[in-house]
Amino acid sequence: MTQDKIYVAGHRGMVGSAIVRHLLAQGVSQSQIVTRTHAELELTNQSAVQHFFATEKPTQVYLAAAKVGGIYANNTYPADFIYQNLMMQANIIEAAFRNGVKKLLFLGSSCIYPRMAQQPMREDALLTGTLEPTNEPYAIAKIAGIKLCESYNRQYGAGHGVDYRSVMPTNLYGPGDNYHAENSHVIPALIRRFHEAKLANAKSVSIWGTGTPRREFLYVDDMAAASVHVMQLPKALYDQHTTPMQSHINVGSGSDVTIAEVARTIAQTVGYEGDIEFDTSKPDGALRKWMDSSRLNALGWKAEVDLHQGLEAAYQDFASKL
Ligand SMILES: NC(=O)c1ccc[n+]([C@@H]2O[C@H](COP(=O)([O-])OP(=O)(O)OC[C@H]3O[C@@H](n4cnc5c(N)ncnc54)[C@H](OP(=O)(O)O)[C@@H]3O)[C@@H](O)[C@H]2O)c1
Repeated sequence: MTQDKIYVAGHRGMVGSAIVRHLLAQGVSQSQIVTRTHAELELTNQSAVQHFFATEKPTQVYLAAAKVGGIYANNTYPADFIYQNLMMQANIIEAAFRNGVKKLLFLGSSCIYPRMAQQPMREDALLTGTLEPTNEPYAIAKIAGIKLCESYNRQYGAGHGVDYRSVMPTNLYGPGDNYHAENSHVIPALIRRFHEAKLANAKSVSIWGTGTPRREFLYVDDMAAASVHVMQLPKALYDQHTTPMQSHINVGSGSDVTIAEVARTIAQTVGYEGDIEFDTSKPDGALRKWMDSSRLNALGWKAEVDLHQGLEAAYQDFASKL
């Protein structure tokens, strides 16, 4: 059993809270897990972060704090997205290094890959093309996060034993998601809409686009399990499957579904019995977006929760908060 003192940054977020749940389920004791709310520790504040690390002296860090949002938020607040994410990750990674942290896991996102990347997106597609403009500032910050980890490894790996890794999740959903009407991702947004349509006995729910684009979704507890798995991999094995300047690992479910299938499955989960209409005058976005997770599969991890099970749990979470 690990004796580590583990700092989970962003522990009240969807992924951070799932990582804490997973560590506790693995037998890590609550007293080994260090957390700070946003109100207690502003991660864009360098001296506050330095002081926190110097005082608490964690030995492992999961970096799951970030400014996260949908297309609208990314487009409206690009300065906040690039500045806050760059600052948070730079402050945490530098403070971790200065305070002797050897193991850190940085959470990125699939939006680091070029807009026209070949599907499924492999890790080596990074920096081979132009990014999607709507979330480019956020993606640039995430790419910088990967490069921070790699640069600290390259400069301080051999001498100081620094071993900072990164994982790139696909679209996540599950307990702790943001169900805000305008600013949420596709699954939580549809859960809310179908739930409200059921209560209103609505005849139909209209969905943007043709319903044919395909997307990949991963249940958040699977993401947490994958994060802990990657963190705990022996260094020799991790090194065998990565290179010093391409060290990130994709985390996906391995399969994708059409928006129409997701919508139908959510309607069924929620118990909405009306029609689903597709508003083909609205844009579809990319036709397909899914990750090549073969590197992670070769490292011994596979997703376990299927979409039906995951959506049941997500809907229960949504309903419990009404
Ligand atoms: N959700 C997805 O579908 C998805 C997909 C791919 C990758 N990811 C990545 O996974 C990671 C976690 O995402 P998530 O969905 O769990 O996000 P989330 O639910 O929004 O959680 C982010 C956490 O970070 C905290 N935080 C943000 N800014 C902070 C600051 N300046 N100082 C201190 N704490 C701060 C937030 O606290 P407050 O709420 O109090 O601000 C929150 O607890 C992110 O790196 C994200 O890019 C998520």
